[in-house]
Amino acid sequence: MINKINILSIETSCDETGISIVEYNKNTSNYLILSDELNSQVDIHKEFGGVFPTIAKREHGNNLLHLLKMSLKNLKINEENKINVDNTHIHYLDREKELKEFVQKELDSDQSIFTNIPNIDYIAVTTGPGLEPALWVGLSFAKFLSCIWQKPLIPINHMEGHMTSILLENNDKISFPTLSLLISGGHTELVDIENWGKYKVIGKTRDDAVGEAYDKVARILGLDYPGGPEISKRSAVIRKTYTVSEIEKRKEKLNIKLPRPMIRSQDLDLSFSGLKTAVLYMVRDMKKINEFLNEDIVNLICHEFEESVSEVLLSKLSFAHKNNENKYKNLIVAGGVIANDFLKQNIDIWCKDNEINFLKPDKKLATDNAVMIALAAIIGLKHQYVKILNPDTEDFIKLKPDGDWSLNNI
Ligand code: KG4
Ligand code: ZN
Repeated sequence: MINKINILSIETSCDETGISIVEYNKNTSNYLILSDELNSQVDIHKEFGGVFPTIAKREHGNNLLHLLKMSLKNLKINEENKINVDNTHIHYLDREKELKEFVQKELDSDQSIFTNIPNIDYIAVTTGPGLEPALWVGLSFAKFLSCIWQKPLIPINHMEGHMTSILLENNDKISFPTLSLLISGGHTELVDIENWGKYKVIGKTRDDAVGEAYDKVARILGLDYPGGPEISKRSAVIRKTYTVSEIEKRKEKLNIKLPRPMIRSQDLDLSFSGLKTAVLYMVRDMKKINEFLNEDIVNLICHEFEESVSEVLLSKLSFAHKNNENKYKNLIVAGGVIANDFLKQNIDIWCKDNEINFLKPDKKLATDNAVMIALAAIIGLKHQYVKILNPDTEDFIKLKPDGDWSLNNI
């Protein structure tokens, strides 16, 4: 017997609005992405050099209904599943002005998409960590859909979503305990995974996240938001143009040297705010001599920054591994910063040297998306630790986003 479940998932924790539908085949343990809709707000936030929570909230409200329509296009429609939808549940959207207007218009139209119950079993939604105003939009929409279609709601931790993003590439072949390094715009954490659903944060940044440092350093250098891809492109140019010893000589001549924060701290704490400040001072001093930093200098600074980040992260991986009697056989690295090829190569070498299996997401799933939220829901259902909230029950009504939801409290 074919035993399948379909999850509709919603992600709105930061500046990407995502809706996806993922099918899981319990017999084969295979995942099939039926739809993956994503709307990035990067161009809007570029102007501000970072994410603005109120604008992120507004944009999620503008995007969600459209993305839902696109997602449902890929599902077979069962005309027998037609229902009447009235305004009974629209109050779940009371705090989302833009979204409520779109939904009300849709409800008033003759061909409303809400009147066909789609072939889904659960609705998974990111409820933290992230920007609370942004998280609210996704959660309000998920509650509304859950009520009109009478599908249970599953709240998902965004960072767990990042970890489970590796499943598409690696299926269920993961042995535990596994070490995880999560590097995103909001988080930098080392996590001990005893099993799916059993997480212990064993190290984290005291201040800025790695992605945040990339973004802030890019801003100091006058580069576009998000900084990660810009900085990594520029340091790749340096690696292509010069030999290793030429790079060293050029940096020495120009006095380009950045610290490796907490590299010898003998613990799993990280810190990236000092690194950003070091770039700020270095650039300020350089500009005293020459107002305009040429392309080559900017690229060399990017290179030095990336070297520092990579060395620090690798040293912490080594410390985590040794400190835990080399017990890890797998390393999951996830979060937007793992889109970085240089870092990926270095971690790959480290894993080979330590006989550890390196598990990473496909590049498309590295940065925020809704597919990873569906994957986390599937894993949570399979291992029976997710909350399953039936529409309009007390816990369902009370459910709120938690901007600081830690993996320790899954
Ligand atoms: O996981 P993510 O999409 O969003 C959060 O949950 O924060 O991560 C976004 C972060 C941004 O800071 C961005 O600059 C960084 O990931 N990023 C990169 C690269 N692509 C995105 N950092 C370094 N190299 C990249 N290629
Ligand atoms: Zn993320």
